[in-house]
Amino acid sequence: MTTINKITILGSGVMGHGIAQVASAAGYNIVLRDIEQTLLENAMNKIKWSLGKLVEKQKISQDDANSVYGRITPVVDLKKALQDSDLLIEAVPEDLELKKKVYAEVEKYVEDKTLYASNTSTLPIGELASLTSRPSRFIGLHFFNPPQLMPLVEVIPSRFTDNDTVSITLDLIKKIGKDPVLCKKDVVGFIVNRIFIPLVHEAAYCLERDNAKMTQIDSAVKFKMAAPMGIFELADYTGLDVIHKASNEMASRDKKVINPNPLIERLFSEKKFGQKSGTGFYDYSGEDKYGRIKLSETEAENYDPITLVAIVANNAAWLLSNGVCDRNDLDKALRLGMGFKKSPFTLAEEFGLKRVVSTLESLSNKYGEFYEPDILLKKMSLG
Ligand code: CAA
Repeated sequence: MTTINKITILGSGVMGHGIAQVASAAGYNIVLRDIEQTLLENAMNKIKWSLGKLVEKQKISQDDANSVYGRITPVVDLKKALQDSDLLIEAVPEDLELKKKVYAEVEKYVEDKTLYASNTSTLPIGELASLTSRPSRFIGLHFFNPPQLMPLVEVIPSRFTDNDTVSITLDLIKKIGKDPVLCKKDVVGFIVNRIFIPLVHEAAYCLERDNAKMTQIDSAVKFKMAAPMGIFELADYTGLDVIHKASNEMASRDKKVINPNPLIERLFSEKKFGQKSGTGFYDYSGEDKYGRIKLSETEAENYDPITLVAIVANNAAWLLSNGVCDRNDLDKALRLGMGFKKSPFTLAEEFGLKRVVSTLESLSNKYGEFYEPDILLKKMSLG
């Protein structure tokens, strides 16, 4: 069985640099690879900032922070980056054409012992595995933003993945202090993004259909749906470029998974990517690296998020009906991956299951198939 010592991370963006940091914190030697030195400098600065925060909050000592930083080697040369690597984790942007290019290049230099993992947020793992010469040694390891703070990793084997690769990577995830949830089916969006990405699009529809303000919806999401952030706030924090790409890849594979809202396309084309670009749904000019939106219980009082509760419950029911996960894993994934303090079904019960189903039925009459209530949700509503 392969022993993991050296890990190569391909892509030093939001996810890549965070994964590098958490894996290094567990003692692994990390090579962080990107196509330009300036991107790597930016990533190393973000790692320094994050380690500084952890020291400030006395979660780690300054010596530990120095060691974590010191075990990460930034490298541009791909051949050098893959030398003697036990595991590569690909974390490049969510664009299949780009990923095809990356894997074609990787194939030139990757060694026989190296396991492949992708941090893809939506793409079926089998599709990516097929781009390589060893699909049986390929698995999905999906981290959550910020990887330094979010405990969840979705582990997604494809139909090709061998048992050895599943055990080695599950073991690795535990060693780096994360909590894995095994995704039983290789579906687009896996578990969490099947809930998160459609929710962003739906919240954007609610702006218009309910004539609501962004902070009203976000306050209701935070205070009435027990989420740690508002949904627009979270979308800006995640990056609208990331959400846009993930949405396109999901929508092109499964019409039932998402009801694309043109506002996402517009913000993306205007390069309003959220916090990272200074504007997204909200404006962040003048903010530091970690701007948060002021939300309040008073504003939450003025908005009923029944549509959003219904969309979450419906997609959650789809995951269960289709054998992607069981209810325990679903609740765990949403708690550890998105900080949801309540199970989607508990929330639906609190809002009234019958009301949730009738909301979906009336939306489906007006706007189509996407909103049709899942059979499991209908059964639940009948008690
Ligand atoms: N490293 C270290 N510290 C960090 C950090 C990082 N990367 N990011 C933030 N912090 C710090 C903040 O600066 C803050 O420090 P100060 O108190 O000094 O300001 C501290 O952590 C706590 O932050 P908050 O006060 O904002 O506290 P919070 O309780 O809201 O926790 C959070 C922050 C963990 C991010 C929480 O808001 C949360 O869980 N949000 C939801 C995140 C989420 O859903 N992520 C998944 C997105 S979907 C995804 O990633 C999948 C995909 O494929 C698209």
